[in-house]
Amino acid sequence: MCGIVALIGSREAAPQLLDGLRQLEYRGYDSAGIATVEGGRLHCLKAEGKLVNLSARYEQHGAPGQCGIGHTRWATHGKPEERNAHPHLDGSGELAVVQNGIIENHRTLRESLQAEGVTFLSDTDTEVIPHLIALELKARSDAGEAASANLLLAAVQAVLPQLHGAYALAVVWARCPGALVVARHQAPLLIGLGEGEFLCASDTPALAGFTRTILPMEDGEVALLTPLGIELYDSAGQRVQRTPTLLTGTEHVADKRSFRHFMLKEIHEQPETAALWVARHLPEGALVALPLDESVYTGVERIQILACGTSRHAAQVGAYLLEQLAGIPTSVFYASEFRYAPPPLTPHMLTIGVTQSGETADTLAALAMEQERRQSLEDPAYAPRLLGITNRPESSLGRLVGHLLDIGAGIEVGVAATKTFLGQLLAFYGLALAFAERRQGQDGPGASSGRSIAELQALASQLRQLPGLLQALVHDHDQRCAELAHLFADTQDVIFLGRGINYPIAMEGALKLKEISYIHAEGYPAGEMKHGPIALLDARVPVVSIAVPGTVFDKVLSNAQEAKARDAQLIGVAPACPDTTLFDVLLPLPETDELLSPLLTVIPMQLLSYHIAAHRGLDVDQPRNLAKSVTVE
Ligand code: G6P
Repeated sequence: MCGIVALIGSREAAPQLLDGLRQLEYRGYDSAGIATVEGGRLHCLKAEGKLVNLSARYEQHGAPGQCGIGHTRWATHGKPEERNAHPHLDGSGELAVVQNGIIENHRTLRESLQAEGVTFLSDTDTEVIPHLIALELKARSDAGEAASANLLLAAVQAVLPQLHGAYALAVVWARCPGALVVARHQAPLLIGLGEGEFLCASDTPALAGFTRTILPMEDGEVALLTPLGIELYDSAGQRVQRTPTLLTGTEHVADKRSFRHFMLKEIHEQPETAALWVARHLPEGALVALPLDESVYTGVERIQILACGTSRHAAQVGAYLLEQLAGIPTSVFYASEFRYAPPPLTPHMLTIGVTQSGETADTLAALAMEQERRQSLEDPAYAPRLLGITNRPESSLGRLVGHLLDIGAGIEVGVAATKTFLGQLLAFYGLALAFAERRQGQDGPGASSGRSIAELQALASQLRQLPGLLQALVHDHDQRCAELAHLFADTQDVIFLGRGINYPIAMEGALKLKEISYIHAEGYPAGEMKHGPIALLDARVPVVSIAVPGTVFDKVLSNAQEAKARDAQLIGVAPACPDTTLFDVLLPLPETDELLSPLLTVIPMQLLSYHIAAHRGLDVDQPRNLAKSVTVE
């Protein structure tokens, strides 16, 4: 995923562009660039690596002008080198474009442009766009049209239908310094309305310090921005009128407070995330209160969940809960796989998309495909019923699905998801309780699993205690994991074992470690180790074993013994266990119902990964090769 910003107004654009890019850097950080227009010239600066490199270039060279565009990149086409950094220019160096997304037919377009004599300077898909717009401008100028904002708009509008894929883009032209053209097609773009100036950006953090009045663009829309106002057009070229909305709350502003990294701050915010969730959705006197329409629940016979990365691990815990608490057969799919091999359609299905950012292209595309194939049947039993679980209700997901559950975790800047994962888990606890309550006493497929209301109520009241438990756990384990980190100084592989409801947490522990410490890690179902991966174990491979009293406790302890017998160093995430000599190190857990344990076992996973990466001196908040969410398939 990349971040784009664009500004037009009456003050120097570059400082505001750089500021906006700083807020969007979590979206990509392998190179960055800006282009401003003044005096009939384009002033373009680019730098490989983090934004500080671009800022240094700006300090040195400057970039004058009151209109400009900027980009922070997560490489898709072409290596993260300066020549592939945006903005990309046309042959004359007068027109500049930044783009977030992928132009899928760029090869064909590139070939036909090359056949017309166009020279390309980068390996990117984006570079076709300035060349196409330039050709369009030339054709129109040759036909006698004078340079103007409307000419630029018309040229962009003529080019957009030639581009296949998902994108958001911004264009400036040296011959028309008073105009900025932006377009959106399946990638986010919002316009912020300031006083006599307009700022466009891929996401709200770039806008929040500038204005609270925003106009989210819809798919297919193009906007012409001048210091005087906004002209918004739909894909058919018709003028669109829409009222701006207000950004509320402080959750749009990123602030590290006194923490060393955003990730650590966000881990510490989890008791608050849980407290807010409990206050909103687990009121005393009711089992659970979710702001969902009854039509989400009625007659559901099966559930399928589509997600990627960490969100998929939350979905796996969710599936366990929906099956065990509510008795509904539930499947979880990698969103990136689902679209190309969807299962046969079955009736009365609830499809849930889980994405903290609400912008992950794989998840959105899979949901859109499911919606389309169900709609095309025109059979009420097969009608699409789509629920989104997200931290960003204003995102593309919010516009795609009919029903939305906002996890309300506040802005998360660290690329490795922590508090949003907890928020997603809580959403699934809420959903499973809500379904289970409605299924009391039902027979036949999708019937209640037999949990009585009293049992469900006991779970809900334990959930109400969660914020306090988390507070103590985060505090204690922060210290413990910091002390443990040096043990992993030379470690190259770590195995995480879990079973049942904690198997997804083992996977999440491994993913967190891979993401931020670059140590190879595998999350494995503990009982499956003996069927192959046990061959990997020796004294150099630490094993983290999640062992929670309940259905599989003894089995997990035996699996841990098997690892210990192969000399593995054993780290237990468990309550004080009967065999006190089993674990070399214990990360202790408070006693809790096994069904609720993932909400606790995930904390040592997060803190262990964090401290190992921080101990290695790595950039925890912006790990290499990653982006907060990936808006390309
Ligand atoms: C990216 C991030 C992962 C994240 C995944 C899904 O790949 O690097 O950490 O889990 O996207 O993000 P989402 O916004 O859909 O939850």
